[in-house]
Amino acid sequence: LAKQAEQAFTDAVEQELFEAARVQFMGARSGQMKTLQKLMGGLSKEDRPAGGKKLNEVKNRIQAAMESASQRLDVAGTGGSKSGPMIDATLPGERRHLGRVHPITQTIEHLKDIMGRLGFEVVEGPEVEDTWHNFVALNIPEDHPARDPLDNFYLSVAGQTSVDANAHAARLLRSQTSTVQIRVMENRQPPIRIISLGRVYRPDEADATHFPMFHQMEGLWIDTHVTMAQLKSVLRMFATSYLGADVTIRFRPSFFPFTEPSVEADFLWNGNWIEFGGAGMVDPNVLKSVGYDPEQVSGFAFGLGVERLCMRRHHVEDIRDLYRNDLRFLHQF
Ligand code: PHE
Repeated sequence: LAKQAEQAFTDAVEQELFEAARVQFMGARSGQMKTLQKLMGGLSKEDRPAGGKKLNEVKNRIQAAMESASQRLDVAGTGGSKSGPMIDATLPGERRHLGRVHPITQTIEHLKDIMGRLGFEVVEGPEVEDTWHNFVALNIPEDHPARDPLDNFYLSVAGQTSVDANAHAARLLRSQTSTVQIRVMENRQPPIRIISLGRVYRPDEADATHFPMFHQMEGLWIDTHVTMAQLKSVLRMFATSYLGADVTIRFRPSFFPFTEPSVEADFLWNGNWIEFGGAGMVDPNVLKSVGYDPEQVSGFAFGLGVERLCMRRHHVEDIRDLYRNDLRFLHQF
């Protein structure tokens, strides 16, 4: 019987066979060991000690076979295993590499926070635009170099080989977030105090300071008596909040078709003046194009480069580092 049982447990390559063998030999009610035990009762007094000894031997062999089979199945064990791998609680923990928020996204959240405290509401606009919102309503005439197909990502129309960049409905990836100024003014009446943050696209060669896709923060404040002095204080307050009280900024006269007068705002970085954006008083032609009366309302607008702000604050020297997806770089933020 012991040999039979040993064979059965050796053959038990899976849990079910093992269980069948266990019931057959060691089952508490009708296992073969039980039957053998019952036979003991029929032995004579003299034969009993020897019988008992034999019985124990058989039982021990079966039990040993059963245990080794059980261990073997546990190790290979798929589930049902009661003893998992040993855990040494004294070993130092292993840090899990969770993802992080991209530095540009972190910057955008930070900028929204600062501008929110200055009373600006966040709005969004589409990245695929039409020439009306990207140029025409912004007082950028047909022959303006900014509309050149070589300086913009126009979208081709199915079935057409060339793009008519002058058609009002020609579509392109927006080259500036100023499009959102128009979209907001078309749908609301003053007072308006908004910012809009998002991607813009220009077919520039990538180098340390240029990338064909980057982010801008547009700001717009329209009301009955908005002045240039307010524009300058808002930009100055913004720059010192984001870059620190010791940042040096300056305003230079400039030109944009959609603002008059216009300025460029620069900050000092490593001994150089870096342009961080353009701004100005919204041109009366722009106010008219959205149906406002320039005699009744005025306002200012600005557009700042998000990457430049982020780079200045975090001492990033090359804009391409932001878009290489190199984890060694990204993990620093
Ligand atoms: N749209 C301008 C640019 O892309 C920036 C700007 C925005 C200037 C608003 C004036 C007012 O450079």
